[in-house]
Amino acid sequence: MAHPMLVADVSGDFASAVRAGLAQAQKVIPARFFYDRAGSELFEDITRLAEYYPTRTEIGLLTAHAAALAAAVGPGRAVIEFGSGSSAKTPLLLGAIRPGAYVPVDISAAFLAESAAALGARFPGLPVLPVAADFTQDFRVPAAIMGMQRLGFFPGSTLGNLAPVAAVDLLRRFASVLGAGSALIIGLDLAPGPGKSVAELEAAYDDAAGVTAAFNLNLLHRINRELGGDIETDAFAHRALWNPDLGRIEMHLVARRALVFSAAGRQFAMAAGETIHTENSYKWMLAEARMLAMASGWAPVNSWTDADGRFSLNLWQRDDARMQP
Ligand code: TRP
Repeated sequence: MAHPMLVADVSGDFASAVRAGLAQAQKVIPARFFYDRAGSELFEDITRLAEYYPTRTEIGLLTAHAAALAAAVGPGRAVIEFGSGSSAKTPLLLGAIRPGAYVPVDISAAFLAESAAALGARFPGLPVLPVAADFTQDFRVPAAIMGMQRLGFFPGSTLGNLAPVAAVDLLRRFASVLGAGSALIIGLDLAPGPGKSVAELEAAYDDAAGVTAAFNLNLLHRINRELGGDIETDAFAHRALWNPDLGRIEMHLVARRALVFSAAGRQFAMAAGETIHTENSYKWMLAEARMLAMASGWAPVNSWTDADGRFSLNLWQRDDARMQP
């Protein structure tokens, strides 16, 4: 079913984020700006790389445990997917649980429209109600799902791309957007352990074919395209490293030599070896993931992992009572 899309404007936001981020001592660009059309397509390519285990592992978990998930959440829910992209995971969930409506929320309006149309065709009769918005900010829920119990779907370990304080803010926001009686299915990538080495983890963010490098560098191309930048993109290299103290993969753009450029109406200089920090991807142990849930208004119900302990699929329910002895 076709419905008009709710669209949020993010262009002014990009310019001010670039001006502020590149003025810091450690230069930084918020990761949400990766996902213009080219970035979203490159990200789809990342998910198909041999080195990038999270996507296929999570798809395996959704396939293996679809019946258990369906039994736990029941039919008729409005499924709100945060950051839908063109996910192959969504049909697995929608096919298993008999939802009342599907609400994909994504920042890339063009990508969202296409994937919403494809899903609508695959599930005739299911109301598909796309919302183009940054889900870390307030957004309007379509009127058509008022009165339906809600199920949030947040796959891909996207939560790990936020600092812990922002992750808790977001999970609390989800609890309030989804409302009383809601549940959340959330995919969380796991910390290195016996079945998962640091080398494998780093390779997932620095593949041999250079797709992740192109994804990272697209940020600079995007600044040149949209913010009148003159950045020499060839002067930058992609770097991905596991930070054991903070429990995260970090992605940077490293200046190979000293350079000067302008972007968003400002001039910037970088020394050789200086970096722009573009992404974090936090990894958790299962007990940490449960604590994260409880600290943000959710009660862990169940979680499933693959045999190697690479990735986890978690079912939480909203902690409506909050009553403790
Ligand atoms: N959330 C996923 C992860 O951290 C996907 C992702 C976000 C990603 N940004 C990325 C993957 C950059 C590779 C590179 O793995």
